[in-house]
Amino acid sequence: MRQPLVAGNWKMNGSRASVAELLDGLKAGIDQVTTAEVAVCAPFVYIADVQSRLDGSPIKWGGQDVSVHEAGAYTGETAGPMLADFGCHFVIIGHSERRAYHGESDDLVAQKFSAALAAGLVPILCVGETLEERESGVTEQVVARQLDAVISACGIDDIGKGVIAYEPVWAIGTGKTATPEQAQDVHAFIRGRLAQSSGAVADKVRVLYGGSMNPKNAAELMAQPDIDGGLIGGASLKAADFLAVCSAANR
Ligand code: PGA
Repeated sequence: MRQPLVAGNWKMNGSRASVAELLDGLKAGIDQVTTAEVAVCAPFVYIADVQSRLDGSPIKWGGQDVSVHEAGAYTGETAGPMLADFGCHFVIIGHSERRAYHGESDDLVAQKFSAALAAGLVPILCVGETLEERESGVTEQVVARQLDAVISACGIDDIGKGVIAYEPVWAIGTGKTATPEQAQDVHAFIRGRLAQSSGAVADKVRVLYGGSMNPKNAAELMAQPDIDGGLIGGASLKAADFLAVCSAANR
């Protein structure tokens, strides 16, 4: 059975004071609410603070992006080994905001996936269609293309070492969640696509849903057979909301 994972994606939000308050709230409540694996993905500059506050707690942490390079003259980049040095367990790869605003191609995303694994991190690979793509009926083609790029560059066994997050772009930060049926359909499609290369990997890989998941809709989404947790943006910024989403992932 796949252990659910709930990961917070703080995006570019927070201050040292708000991060401290949020983490204290999470630490105080987490033991009571869930058996799921829980993590927060913080802006790079706060990761040291996150590490010192969460060390010894059951909550893991990670980054939101990683360089394809290990070290060197790459101004502004952050390498996988640096994230590992600060105790990161996860790193988000290919978030739609990186694909859209930073021109990240499927190929680059695949290279980042592999750089994360090389550093001993667990990549959370984001895939998902825009509204235009959904309306023109190409959701499955888009998700397949994004997945296949990583499968062919890294191999199916490496996919098995990561996590996949299905995040319909039209649902991110919009308050418009995919219905449980819409999400389940795409999650089942993703698992089927993985199964074409390996049934064992398809069975074990966790596929998270992301896109306006919140305390109100989380339980219904997480009840779907192929939804193994969530990647949570807005609702991860308040301890009470994030804990409520975590409790919906209890199995
Ligand atoms: P949201 O973001 O929960 O605010 O929609 C999710 C994400 O972008 O990972």
